[in-house]
Amino acid sequence: MIQTKEEILTSALPYIQRYEGTTFVIKYGGAAMMDELLKESFAKDATLLKKIGINVVIVHGGGNEVTELSTKLGMESRFVGGQRYTDEATLKTVVMTLAGSVNKEIVALINRAGGSAVGICGIDNTLITAKKFAPKGYDLGLVGQVEKVNAEWLNTLIASGVMPVIAPIGVAENGEIYNINADLAASAIAQALGAEKLFFLTDTEGVLVDGELVPTLTNTRSQQLMKENIINGGMIPKVNAAFDALANGVKKVHLINGAAKHSLLLEIFTHEGVGTQIIREEKVFGNPAIISTTHSKEEKRKYDLLDLTVMSKQDVEDLMHLTDVLKHSDAKPLTGKHVTLLFQKPSLRTRVSFEVGVSQLGGTSLYLSNEGIGLGERESVADVARVLSSYSDCIVARLFDHNILLALAEHSSVPVINALTDRSHPCQILADLYTIRQHGKLTPGLKIAFVGDGNNVAHSWLEMAAIYPMHLAIAAPAGYHPDPAILAYATESGISTIEILDDPRIAADSADVIYTDVWTSMGQESEQAARTQVFKAYQVNRKLLTLAHPNALVMHCLPAHRGEEITSDAMDSAHSVVFDQAENRLHVQKAILTTLLADGGAGIGNANAFDGLHASTTMRPVPQLYEQEQETIYHS
Ligand code: CP
Ligand code: NVA
Repeated sequence: MIQTKEEILTSALPYIQRYEGTTFVIKYGGAAMMDELLKESFAKDATLLKKIGINVVIVHGGGNEVTELSTKLGMESRFVGGQRYTDEATLKTVVMTLAGSVNKEIVALINRAGGSAVGICGIDNTLITAKKFAPKGYDLGLVGQVEKVNAEWLNTLIASGVMPVIAPIGVAENGEIYNINADLAASAIAQALGAEKLFFLTDTEGVLVDGELVPTLTNTRSQQLMKENIINGGMIPKVNAAFDALANGVKKVHLINGAAKHSLLLEIFTHEGVGTQIIREEKVFGNPAIISTTHSKEEKRKYDLLDLTVMSKQDVEDLMHLTDVLKHSDAKPLTGKHVTLLFQKPSLRTRVSFEVGVSQLGGTSLYLSNEGIGLGERESVADVARVLSSYSDCIVARLFDHNILLALAEHSSVPVINALTDRSHPCQILADLYTIRQHGKLTPGLKIAFVGDGNNVAHSWLEMAAIYPMHLAIAAPAGYHPDPAILAYATESGISTIEILDDPRIAADSADVIYTDVWTSMGQESEQAARTQVFKAYQVNRKLLTLAHPNALVMHCLPAHRGEEITSDAMDSAHSVVFDQAENRLHVQKAILTTLLADGGAGIGNANAFDGLHASTTMRPVPQLYEQEQETIYHS
């Protein structure tokens, strides 16, 4: 798809907003430092990042230049275990080259591009305190390892508006100077600055397996690839430096091809990315690290969204970011994909937002109501699951009994998404969290007061509280408290402060969000009169709002019963974001579908994984029926 210039520019907006004010450390080296055009394009890219408000710090290599100068001086270059043996004379050439000609050339190029680079080395103001590095008893001479980074000074430089360009040379407390591996120096500097991102510009596309790029690398996968000798040679210290950085506060590390023009910008500003991103936390949901061709049931679960327990904080953050991206894009990642919606209950938002979302993403969908299917009645849940899996790439199901949803997923070979059951409503709460973030409230100390029935929607909030830190106060009448097992799950996670209260006023006290849901859920219509009595004191109205934070948000998953669980003066007040919640169902579900179904892409979905999933299911034994149905055997 060809994008216009305007589309390209506006599609960068969510990334610019996300990264403004954060710090990126870039290890610059290899091919990107040797070709004149690549040097210039790197200088421009770094300047652009700086100009849009990212704090850019460059740590550079320059081994080839050191070798060149040493050769000119008639000195021999000697390598031990891949590292340059550094004697006194070699150290002089290292300092002359790295802290001298190489450093100054980079600075000059960036400044010519309009940046404000300042060239320093680790000796300046004792930026890098080092000690001798002696791995496994090797003697590398004056090769050092980083002990400490003077982050305070570096932050002062950054705050003054300049772009530090750092040569990887360190100094010991006794004044001894050391040559330091640039990857390790970059990693240590990124850790000291708590960088958002650390980039390694390499001479390959990233980590490759059988010539194919690995878009996302986790620790487990990298250990496996090292064992298989697929990650080897110079890639090993880079990958180790990456995980060291991730273990010490750096959010993401990227290996990208410095030999490809503008790879840095493509990695940062496009949703597909270009290289290998290295992340600490195992992604659980739509795990792109899986490339196995035989999926166990546990692996298949990573492609279902049955409840929020399948997601990590990283997954939720990635999903929200992808939502930002898709809001500004007309990408069609679901082209050729078909989604079946199977709904036993009525729906406005969920049905329409899924249908419209699939269509906007280039896919097709079909809505089936229970009358047409007779799930578990006309035929077994397992058989419906198998048949629908053979026509569709995904099943979105709104069912009464959550166990039927589990059975449907168990017997489906395609991802199954929970569009609400009596037990939970994960898509709703993902959209709600996104809405809270959109209104600037997703900050530490967030207090959510849930007022009303402790059933499906409250359950998903509890599951979210086990992922995202918050103070969740649920006020519900006795007998309508949440399921104790879900409550225990959330409490035991230790992520959030959770209170179950009888008094809505205590819950509402200083809350940032007052959230409510209907008193009578779908399927409970016969209890309506009794419920109206029991829940009378659990109404979200102006009076309750006065107890909350002055800028509190009023939220409701809708449909609303005005005059029951919420009054119009609360629902139509300036505090209310109920229609943003409804709209965000569309945006967030598009990100869910893209994560689970899109082919390829760094960190979203994985075509190989899905090919494998489909291939393996045809080989699976005939699944057990969900409920062993009575079979009548006719004797002849
Ligand atoms: N909030 C919600 O799920 O709405 P629908 O029931 O209309 O889908
Ligand atoms: N608790 C409500 C939610 C509607 C979106 C119900 O299940 O009907």
